[in-house]
Amino acid sequence: MGEKFQGSTMLDEEYSADPHAYHARLREERAATEVVLPRGTKAWLITRYEDARAALADPRFAKHHEHLQRVMEVSTTNPDDNGALEQSLVRHMLNMDPPDHTRLRKLVTKAFTARRVEQLRPRVQEITDGLLDAAQGAAGPVDLVDVLAFPLPITVICEMLGVPMEERDDFRAWSNTLVSDSDPAEIETAGKAMGAYLFGLVEHKRANPGDDFFSALVHASEDGDQLDQGELIAMAFLLLVAGHETTVNLIANGVYHLLRHPDQLARLRADRSLLPGAVEEFLRYESPVNYATFRYSTEDVEVGDVVIPKDSLVLVSLLSGNRDGSKFPDADRFDITRQTSGHLAFGHGIHFCLGAPLARLEGEIAVGALLDRFDLEPAEDLEGLAWRPGTLIRGLVSLPVNLSPR
Ligand code: HEM
Repeated sequence: MGEKFQGSTMLDEEYSADPHAYHARLREERAATEVVLPRGTKAWLITRYEDARAALADPRFAKHHEHLQRVMEVSTTNPDDNGALEQSLVRHMLNMDPPDHTRLRKLVTKAFTARRVEQLRPRVQEITDGLLDAAQGAAGPVDLVDVLAFPLPITVICEMLGVPMEERDDFRAWSNTLVSDSDPAEIETAGKAMGAYLFGLVEHKRANPGDDFFSALVHASEDGDQLDQGELIAMAFLLLVAGHETTVNLIANGVYHLLRHPDQLARLRADRSLLPGAVEEFLRYESPVNYATFRYSTEDVEVGDVVIPKDSLVLVSLLSGNRDGSKFPDADRFDITRQTSGHLAFGHGIHFCLGAPLARLEGEIAVGALLDRFDLEPAEDLEGLAWRPGTLIRGLVSLPVNLSPR
């Protein structure tokens, strides 16, 4: 960790009041700021677009998996029986550096091709239609997070991995706890429960391979190489958490900003060819993942005029980089027709989101179907809606709307 503590920022407090204002101040002040995270850990925060993009592609900001676990005080080596399972959960590719990362990513990419994702289109449409049928039957306002944004991606990823419907509420609870700033003991309990479940799932898929995505993953091989059992558990864990915590916010944040900007909503209704660009603007303007997962400086690294010392934890803000006016002119203006290429919502570099095509597909289908079928009115003051606590994810707790069939 750094010797000198330059900032006194409590990320938690000022952040929750208004993360965009907080990041705007930091972008203005300096290239990297030392901050204290909710549980007291110090980290360096990078907020400017160019620095963020460069940091994500810089091998000097590495995962250093073993060390990262130690620094973050995450228990992965409990002497009890579940210790090995817990250890498996964090051995996923988002926590790995080359060459381990390269090997894991290569194996998974085979099972996650654009063709496989495109094959999901009719099923994603069907699930969306079913969810909207149910929402249409509800009396009074509905919470769009609850009826559409949350269940769609989770249903898709659970079907891909073969997680039965009955287990999904448990998954929601475990997954929410794991990405929250909860007590370490609670996080550990959730991790153990999830690990034990995934262990059974992998065993089942090994014995009963089907035509599904997870079976493809179990059997994916490259030059005789295969994912071992621990790696499969970790991969399933990563995909389930990614499938639970991210696309929900793409959909809900996007609809929220359309409601806040009726001119943009009207444009999109008038010209549906704008939809793919609109989804990119949702991703840029209110990025579902605020901070990319931790990096660790393997040597002193200059970021602008700041030196981040060796052995520091480093956080890269995607939410902030995407609001940097030096990259996106008038960056605080929501404009579904703007140029968004190069946005950082899916990260950058070797860890660029593997699920991006799926997230885009789900976002387009969900928002497209919603606009096809309904006129939407906010059911509560939009400015007063609550955002989820915690700093890693940027998403609304709920989005109450009145739906009138068109
Ligand atoms: C990685 C964002 C949806 C699977 C990432 C990263 C970001 C991200 C920022 C890189 C993190 C870092 O570098 O620290 C998002 C957003 C999504 C989304 C904003 C939705 C709007 C999904 C979905 C899946 C998925 C639906 C799969 C079902 C992954 C995987 C990685 C990843 C496997 C790790 C890739 C690697 O380490 O090489 N995602 N994600 N994501 N995402 Fe997503």
